[in-house]
Order: sequence, then C-alpha cells, then structure tokens
Amino acid sequence: MIIAIDGPAASGKGTLARMIARHFGFAYLDTGALYRAVARDTLAGGFGLDDTAAVVSIARSLDPATLDDDGLRCPGVGEAASRIAGIPEVRAALLAYQRHFAKTPPGAVLDGRDIGTVVCPDADAKIFVTATADVRARRRFLERQRQGEDATYEQVLDLIRNRDARDSERGSSPMKRADDADLLDTTEMGIQAAFDAAVGLIKRKISQ
Ligand code: DC
Repeated sequence: MIIAIDGPAASGKGTLARMIARHFGFAYLDTGALYRAVARDTLAGGFGLDDTAAVVSIARSLDPATLDDDGLRCPGVGEAASRIAGIPEVRAALLAYQRHFAKTPPGAVLDGRDIGTVVCPDADAKIFVTATADVRARRRFLERQRQGEDATYEQVLDLIRNRDARDSERGSSPMKRADDADLLDTTEMGIQAAFDAAVGLIKRKISQ
C-alpha cells in the first residue's frame, strides 16, 4: 500500500503524512529531507549550489542514514534544497531510493512535491495538501518565532511565494497535483480536522 502526500512548503503535509503513517502502521519518508541533505552536504563541502557536477555527485552518494538531522530544518537549507531540486540529474539520483522505500511492507507514506506524479504514479491513495500562501506564511512565521528567530511575517511570506514559484515552475518534475489526487485545502482547518479529512479520503480511495 502506498500513500502519496504532496503539497507546497508549510502546507502541513509533513505533519499530516507522519500522523497518517502512524495511524495505518506504515513506514514514513519525508522526501524533502533527501533534497535538504544534498543541499546540506553541498554547502558543508564548500561547493556552490550551481556547481552541478559536485551537487550531482553528492546526490549519487547520499547516505540516507544521515537524514535524521535537526540541521536539515533550518530555512537556509530549505532554500538551498529548493534550488538544487531543479537539477534533473539530482532528481534522478534520488528516485531509486524513494521507489524502493515505497515498497516497504505493509505500506508506506511518502510526502513531497512529485510523489503522486513521478515517484509513485500508481500510489493507492494520493492527496495534494494546500492552503493559501498567507495562512502558510503565518504558520511558518509562528513556528520560527517559537524557535527564537526574528524574521518578519512579510519576509516569511516572500520566501514562501518564491519557493512556490521555484518548485512549481521548474522543468523537471515540478510540484503539481496529480490528476487522480484528492485536494485537501487546510486553509480553514486545524491539524486534527485535516487529519480526519485525510483519513476519510484515503479510506474512500482504497475501498473503491
Ligand atoms: O518539503 P520540504 O520543504 O522539506 O522540501 C525542501 C525542498 O526540496 C522543496 O522546496 C523542493 C524540494 N523537494 C522536491 O523538489 N521534491 C520533493 N519530492 C520533495 C522536496
């Protein structure tokens, strides 16, 4: 059983995907962490994000055991991840690991941007999670404030808008709702309501 959860930055897809995996007893993969880890290793190695040969080589030798790293969540790494994610060879290098993970028995939940369209087009259930840029920016802004960062709401909104544009306009596997994905708009929902709605959509899809 494969459940694909896609959506833009700060849509809540990661939290939802983790809750869904726990609910069904499935394995969970945050595929954004793969791109973030490539970005982290590129920056740590002193390479430029536009040094395609270096970035591709880092992606090809990425050790998935290094994904459990708090450093992956910082804003600079997310931005850098979005940039290197536009390199087709980087995406190709990360594909086999994601597809292999998706086959974990008895099931797997993967979240990202292109799970329902490219990584697992045959997933049993697909949800595209979204919310307005304004609401996503407000959630991310509050999260950053709790972490003691002093970015303004306007700066966070700007970053979210730029990230949306870069992730959805790139030529290689752009962020896109798959034709057969259910849309879950969480603009007016708390996390519990979004989770209940997601489980309802998944159960309906797998019983069809
Ligand atoms: O989901 P996230 O914010 O951790 O992802 C960071 C970046 O990685 C995102 O801006 C684009 C890229 N990404 C991608 O291109 N494809 C995925 N399946 C997951 C993430």
